[in-house]
Amino acid sequence: MTDIRQYLRSLPVFAGELPVFEPDSAPERPETLFVDWLTEAVEAGVREPHAMVLSTAGADGVPSSRALLLKNVDSGGWQFAANSSSPKGRELAENPVAALSFYWPQQARQIRVTGPVEPESAENSAADFLARSPGSRAEAVAGRQSSPLDDRRELDLATEQALDRVTREPGLVVPEWTLYTVRAERVEFWQADKQRKHTRLRYERHGDGWTRGRLWP
Ligand SMILES: Cc1cc2nc3c(=O)[nH]c(=O)nc-3n(C[C@H](O)[C@H](O)[C@H](O)COP(=O)(O)O)c2cc1C
Repeated sequence: MTDIRQYLRSLPVFAGELPVFEPDSAPERPETLFVDWLTEAVEAGVREPHAMVLSTAGADGVPSSRALLLKNVDSGGWQFAANSSSPKGRELAENPVAALSFYWPQQARQIRVTGPVEPESAENSAADFLARSPGSRAEAVAGRQSSPLDDRRELDLATEQALDRVTREPGLVVPEWTLYTVRAERVEFWQADKQRKHTRLRYERHGDGWTRGRLWP
């Protein structure tokens, strides 16, 4: 059997060309730098560059994390959409604060966002829902996300029925579908360096503005 410890140690880290990040010329607001890095990740061929890890913890304090797609980012914050009755939705109702992290391997870049989370209005959540493809609306209509699935055929049947319903009722909205906004308080940009002198820049919110400073790697 392969010695997994040895195997892990042998894997390359931060191989190839890496971009240089110069914090002194960083923009005033983190969402501006985020969009710059996101578009550069797209150009570098990162797969699902808008996928991020959302970490939450409910009232019991036990953390959980999962990947989600970013729906929007602007001065109001970072947005994602999910069913409020899913485990993550329940955790956010109990403890409305979260951390997001993005990792773009081609450039060895990481971005971390933390702050309180607010559900958007029913109107905005419905608009997000109706902009989804029929297949993903059907998935949400079938519901029961993260409940135990005993028989795959149950899923096939529920999906088929949900797709049928979505086709017959194109304006149908799942009331639990929720657009959430992470109102970022801290945003950190991390760029790997081959000599391990990684560059880190952390933005911290003060009212409507931001201060920023470097961190030790
Ligand atoms: C790349 C990627 C994107 C995903 N996007 C979403 C999403 O936008 N919304 C969502 O509810 N789940 C999304 N998922 C599924 C979640 O990771 C997770 O399995 C699901 O939401 C159940 O999480 P929970 O049990 O913690 O509530 C995505 C998974 C991957 C791998």
